[in-house]
Amino acid sequence: MTLQEFISGMPKAENHIHQDGATSPESALYLAERHGMTLPFSTPEEAAQRFQYRNLGDFIRMIDATNAVIQDEEDIAYLVTELGRDAATQNIRYREVMLSCDFHERTGISLDAQMRGFIQGREAAKTQFGVEFACIPELDRTSPPERNLSLVNRLEPWRKDANIVAVGLDSAEAGYPAHRHKEAFRRARELGYYLTAHAGEAYGPVSIWDSLDEAGCGRIDHGVRAVEDPELVNRLDHIFLTVCPLSNLALKVFPDMEHHSIKQLMDAGVPVSINSDDPPFFCGDLNENYEAVVRTFRLAKPELHALAKSAFTNSYAPQTMVNGWIQELDDYFSENDFIL
Ligand code: ADE
Ligand code: ZN
Repeated sequence: MTLQEFISGMPKAENHIHQDGATSPESALYLAERHGMTLPFSTPEEAAQRFQYRNLGDFIRMIDATNAVIQDEEDIAYLVTELGRDAATQNIRYREVMLSCDFHERTGISLDAQMRGFIQGREAAKTQFGVEFACIPELDRTSPPERNLSLVNRLEPWRKDANIVAVGLDSAEAGYPAHRHKEAFRRARELGYYLTAHAGEAYGPVSIWDSLDEAGCGRIDHGVRAVEDPELVNRLDHIFLTVCPLSNLALKVFPDMEHHSIKQLMDAGVPVSINSDDPPFFCGDLNENYEAVVRTFRLAKPELHALAKSAFTNSYAPQTMVNGWIQELDDYFSENDFIL
C-alpha cells in the first residue's frame, strides 16, 4: 500500500492536541451563527487564507479571535465530540487533549461548565467512536501566577470523570518563563498530576531547562529547539518530547521540513512522538504530520514503528490500556507494508 494508506490505517495515539486548537472553520462558523457573532473569516476558504502567521504571537491572536465564538458548555461538548469523530476517522485510539481553561474562563465559561462539556464530549467519543480521551488543563504562561494556582486548586472535583492526567503550560513563551508558575506546578505535583510544558518552540534551550529544573516538568511539549544545546540533548534522554512538525513550520520555528530537528532528536535517542497541535490552524492532521516526517527523512518501517509506539508507551494512559494498543500496533506492522 502507499505510505498515505499505511499511516491512515495505523492505530495511533496523540499526546498533544488543543481542544480549542482543533476547532474547524466549519465548526467556528456554525457556532458564530448560533450565537450571532462574527469571525475574522466568513467561509472555510477565507479561513485557509487567513491562517498564515509570522510567529506564535500572530497565531495566538488568530486562535483567540476564532475561539471567541465558543460560548458555553454545549459548545465545548459539541467540539469535543467532533474531536472524537475526527479521531476515529484517523484511527486514533487515544488523545491527550489540552484544555485552555483560562481562555474559556476569560470569555465567560466557568471551569465547571467547561468540565461538564468536556466530560459529555469525552463520553460521546468513547461510546459513539470508541476513542479514549485524557484531559490536560493548560496554565497560560502570560496569566498571573495566582490565577494559575487557583485553577490547579479547582480541578480536583473533575479529575476522575474528565480523566485529568496532567497539568500543562502554553501560550507566549518569550518573556514568560515557566518558573513564574512554580507554585502552581508544585501544587499540581502535590495533588499527583503529571507536569508538562510547551517549551523550546518560540524560545530557546533556556526555556526547556527552566521547565525541567525550575517548574519540575517531566515531559516537554515541542522541545524542538533543544538541538541548539548539546548538553540539553543529553539531559533529554528520558524526557519525552511531543513534537508537532507542521505546527513548527507554520509558526516559522524551522524554514522547511528538511531543517526540522526531529530526526536529529530521534538519532540522539530522545523519546519523541508526532502530533498535530492545532490541526485546522496549521492545515495538517495527525496523518499528514506523520507523512511529512516519513517522506522528508525517508524513515524506514522500524523507525515509523518506534515513533508510533512511543506515542502510546510515553503517554499518561494506564499500562493495561497501553499494552492492548501496542499489541494492535505490532500486529498492524507485521501484517502490512508500504512503499515510499
Ligand atoms: N496554544 C496552542 N498551540 C500552541 C503552541 N503551538 N504554542 C503555544 N501555545 C499554544
Ligand atoms: Zn501546543
